[in-house]
Amino acid sequence: MLIGRKVPDVTFRTRVRDEAVGGPNPFRWQEMTSSDYFAGKRVVLFSLPGAFTPTCSTFQLPDFEKLYSEFQAEGIDALYCISVNDAFVMNAWGKTQNLENVQLIPDGSGEFTRKMGMLVAKDNLGFGMRSWRYAAIINDGVVEQWFEEEGFSDNCDSDPYGVSSPQNILENLRRKIAA
Ligand code: BEZ
Repeated sequence: MLIGRKVPDVTFRTRVRDEAVGGPNPFRWQEMTSSDYFAGKRVVLFSLPGAFTPTCSTFQLPDFEKLYSEFQAEGIDALYCISVNDAFVMNAWGKTQNLENVQLIPDGSGEFTRKMGMLVAKDNLGFGMRSWRYAAIINDGVVEQWFEEEGFSDNCDSDPYGVSSPQNILENLRRKIAA
């Protein structure tokens, strides 16, 4: 992904709570576009291999959640976590994480991830096609900074995590402001 490139135009199928639906499971589909998420905002998008996976659930997502105010102080309007998982899975994961600050984006079909050039096979784990771990600062839909874990490959034996951590991204944001 090149800095300066616009993120792909994609429609995401989310599930939102709507009491008007009634019954024991009051959720309905809501389509959200790339423009809904990215237009007119400076955001951090981080992408990971799967909801409920250990590093993502124990470190990456909760750490972004905790550090939200520090991102705000560096001029970030929103934190988005995307994964090649459907809306039901992403919502269930979000519930276990008590999220207030990070918004989850379900890329169930992998279309956004594929168009970002970040789709990899994880058949070695029985996952199918998933996202390589990366993060980006996206300003009004345009990639401003890029944080990709090393070793982009199909069926990777390891799961590198560091470059796309919230701590590393914050450090970069602070360095840029200080420079
Ligand atoms: C993890 O987040 O720890 C993880 C991610 C993908 C596969 C296995 C583990």
